[in-house]
Amino acid sequence: MDKLLPGRAPVYEMLEQYRLKGNISYHVPGHKNGQAYSGAEWAGFLGEIMRYDVTEITGSDDLHHPEGVIKEAQELAAACFGADESYFLVGGSTVGNLALILTVCPEPGMTIIVQRNSHKSIIHGLMLAGARAVFLEPQLDPQSGLAVAPAAKAVQAALGAYPEAAAVLITMPNYYGMGSDLAPLAQACHDSGVPLLVDEAHGAHYGMHLAFPAGALSCGADGVVQSTHKMLPALTMGAMLHVQGPLLDRALLRQRLAMVQSSSPSYPLMASLDLARRLVHVRREEAFTAGLAAVDVLQRGLAELPRFGLLQPAVPLQPSGGAGAAAADTAPPDTAAAYGTQDPFKAVIYDAAGVLGGFELQRRLEERGIVPEMSDARHVVLAFSLGSQAEEAARLVNALQEIAAEAPPVEVPPAIRTADTAGAPSAAQQGLADDGPQALSELGGDSGIVISTWNNFNSLSFSEPVRFSMKPVRSSETQSVALEYSVGRAAAEMVIPYPPGIPLLYPGEIITGAILQRLTGLREGGAKFQACTDPALQHILVYHTEKGGEV
Ligand SMILES: Cc1ncc(COP(=O)(O)O)c(C=O)c1O
Repeated sequence: MDKLLPGRAPVYEMLEQYRLKGNISYHVPGHKNGQAYSGAEWAGFLGEIMRYDVTEITGSDDLHHPEGVIKEAQELAAACFGADESYFLVGGSTVGNLALILTVCPEPGMTIIVQRNSHKSIIHGLMLAGARAVFLEPQLDPQSGLAVAPAAKAVQAALGAYPEAAAVLITMPNYYGMGSDLAPLAQACHDSGVPLLVDEAHGAHYGMHLAFPAGALSCGADGVVQSTHKMLPALTMGAMLHVQGPLLDRALLRQRLAMVQSSSPSYPLMASLDLARRLVHVRREEAFTAGLAAVDVLQRGLAELPRFGLLQPAVPLQPSGGAGAAAADTAPPDTAAAYGTQDPFKAVIYDAAGVLGGFELQRRLEERGIVPEMSDARHVVLAFSLGSQAEEAARLVNALQEIAAEAPPVEVPPAIRTADTAGAPSAAQQGLADDGPQALSELGGDSGIVISTWNNFNSLSFSEPVRFSMKPVRSSETQSVALEYSVGRAAAEMVIPYPPGIPLLYPGEIITGAILQRLTGLREGGAKFQACTDPALQHILVYHTEKGGEV
């Protein structure tokens, strides 16, 4: 391959040439470059996309055996994101997570150490692989009550207890853009000779500007999945898997990717990955100037409007130093902060006066034409990107001013007001210790924990291995009970509040009082549930017997 040129977008350029040539199509797809819709005005937008929608023909290369434009585009992506190799994903981070798990656990019964509050694609990967999962409890940020990644010492302890583990799989950043230093976790994995896999679905832009936290690859992760469509400008489902170092079997990984991805991947989608990469590769930090200026408008607006707090780490980690920068000053594993980094593109706001919950704040914003990414009982997540504009952020600030005026704060006696200048509920108010981040188990209970679709706790820092399989749940083994009467029963279905799609229960898991409290809180708050038979979650499917057995 000739020298890689960041300004090239090989897949996109090939498609543009294909379109200009006006060849006669005697190949699939059946829409024949959109001709099938000619005369149908309602199909206008489809017609435009279909002119670029080719398949594997001469010159267009093959995602599963790349030798031409796709190979070059993936090499450019690897150079841009600091990987040894990058793979285009056309089924989102979902397929990247599946392929990684199927690679490190190639045979049923293998052990993998996994963060408990993981996206459902990870749980599905465990099922497909027939893996034994040792779940790591996430740490808790006491200020916000939100769950962040597990501590390095929990990773070390789990690796010590299960030396047969094939890999460790962590999610960073979380849906709220919160994170910590991954380098100690990578170190703990490498000391045990296992790869660190990171679901970085929400951090495709990490390390690309000094304002962003360091990316997982620069912290030493071996396999990293990124949804390029989430925080960089690719079409929906466009994602990438990056690998580095010797710890992942790349031949097996390619085979696994071929198993979980279509043999007819979308070329417009791959071209959008190519173009998203080119945009940040060529323009580098400058690509983010406008988006960060929009964030600045919001931050300044909030400084004048203390009614709304903005989530920030109490002790921020130092900035990333740009793409591919080595993580220099890594704190020793046992003192690293649970929440040290915040993605400025994820603005997490809350009503500091405690009048409006997150769901209600989201509703009031949507009434004004402002559509947030998600909300929980307290917070609203507003996702910015390099496509955000300052004027839009000014409209957001106006909307917040209006909302503040129409829902005035209730007078609270000074004695119980928070000491926190930003106005977030203090650790003491939440019933939590305020001496730094801790695992929930150390906090002795669930009181005050934010009811978030992201949070998911067990009481130990890591679990016994949980055996997953594809065994279907048989209706003869289950019954539907009112959610309120489900404590102590083994769930016979997954319960996945969405977004972001973190299963709070998987089949076989015992429903505890804490889980019930969290589920009812979410239900009353208006959260949407996927995967369960009663999407309103009035009832839940449980096993007849106390133990559900193998998942
Ligand atoms: C943490 C996390 N991982 C993976 C995914 C799956 O990503 P995708 O939608 O690109 O398949 C999501 C989706 O929301 C997510 O939040």
